[in-house]
Amino acid sequence: MSEIASISVNGKSHELPVITGTENEQAIDISKLRDISSIITIDPGFKNTGATKSAITFLDGEQGILRYRGYPIEQLAEHSTFLEVTYLLIYGELPTADTLQDFRNKISRHTLIHEDMKKFFDGFPSKSHPMGQLSCLVGALSAFYPESLNPNPSEEEENLSIIKLLAKMPTIVSWIYKKSLGHPVIYPKNNLNYVHNFLNMTFGQITEDITVDKAVVDAMHTLLILHADHEQNCSTSTVRIVGSSNANLYASVSAGISALWGPLHGGANQAVIEMLENIKNDGGGSAKWLAKAKDKNDSFRLMGFGHRVYKNFDPRAKIIKKACDDVLERLGINDPVLDIAKELEEAALKDQYFVDRKLYPNVDFYSGIIYRALGFPTDMFTVLFALGRLPGWIAQWREMRANKEPIGRPRQVYMGHTTRDYVTLNQR
Ligand code: CMC
Repeated sequence: MSEIASISVNGKSHELPVITGTENEQAIDISKLRDISSIITIDPGFKNTGATKSAITFLDGEQGILRYRGYPIEQLAEHSTFLEVTYLLIYGELPTADTLQDFRNKISRHTLIHEDMKKFFDGFPSKSHPMGQLSCLVGALSAFYPESLNPNPSEEEENLSIIKLLAKMPTIVSWIYKKSLGHPVIYPKNNLNYVHNFLNMTFGQITEDITVDKAVVDAMHTLLILHADHEQNCSTSTVRIVGSSNANLYASVSAGISALWGPLHGGANQAVIEMLENIKNDGGGSAKWLAKAKDKNDSFRLMGFGHRVYKNFDPRAKIIKKACDDVLERLGINDPVLDIAKELEEAALKDQYFVDRKLYPNVDFYSGIIYRALGFPTDMFTVLFALGRLPGWIAQWREMRANKEPIGRPRQVYMGHTTRDYVTLNQR
């Protein structure tokens, strides 16, 4: 029997259905509340509001659990490849070896970007932030592939846009990097797999015989997999809401990239390294910085700490911390900011302020140290997050369309002036 919730407002009781998910999470369905009572609910920041029913990612913030399509993140991060996880997220099942090969072949046919798009790269000032460029370039794909504009594409057309975006994103990301150095771009090599191809376009010198260090390749797969989806976060909700107006895939993902850029979301990975560098230049030590983070009159926050949904360890942070130790050891790098990060983490985890608020290190706390060890400059970190998050955005956009979800349009409680008469300045 389905369960019912009662809400009593101004002495009148209203009954609402309760939805139970496959992991027994419960939600009160308030979608008809206004029809039966003229009342809406309000929840700034959607702290307690489910926007959709989704079958893609399960996250339990209290227990620190993250699964893609039912598969634990720990298993995928250790054994799987980024392309396999991409297929899993978008199409719902792990691919067979043949399906994966077919998927890889399809992607490899679309890795080039239109030569005219290179003019965009030349037009950006050399110091412009890579995230601004990425959002612009992904949005611009809709201009080069106008068939993506069809608001009601066939399954085949929709899939083609998906494949093109997956194929072109690594090329765009690497070219942003190469242009920032003033180097010539490296064209895709379609005999290389997805991650190798990306690394080759970024750092060069990779052939079929693979000269790149295995530590680098492993770390890249792990990082991309850990970022691949995270249910209804700020950027993913943006992709879904933009797509709900029937905007095309490229426009929707471009909006998601902009949402990711902020330092409270994906931009935190850049902010963490900048913070650790500041601490290092200031002479190290954690006490001063924890005090600043706790001071309500100081805007400083401990970047890479805290999460809207995790009130326990972020499972991704646990994996990344270990990967960080491994990759630095395998590459023989001694990065002093790693020691600062560890000292800060240890001190924060013992500090009552952080304990009371259940603030733990999140995915961004250690990821930047790995990206840096792999050779990426700090302002590329959030772009790499976007490269990893792409399959999640696509899967969520596709699910939103398949569910035929209505256009996203929240309501508000108006708190402004009541009606008043206009007094003319007679300026016409
Ligand atoms: N440093 C110091 N205090 C913090 C921090 C922090 N990093 N994070 C939260 N708090 C405090 C906050 O001041 C508040 O205290 P009080 O209850 O006394 O007012 C309490 O903890 C709850 O914080 P909130 O801002 O209400 O929580 P939220 O769910 O709205 O924000 C967050 C979540 C991630 C934006 C926030 O924890 C934060 O700003 N963290 C730093 C930025 C960061 O690392 N972002 C990356 C998130 S993970 C990557 C991703 O997927 O986006």
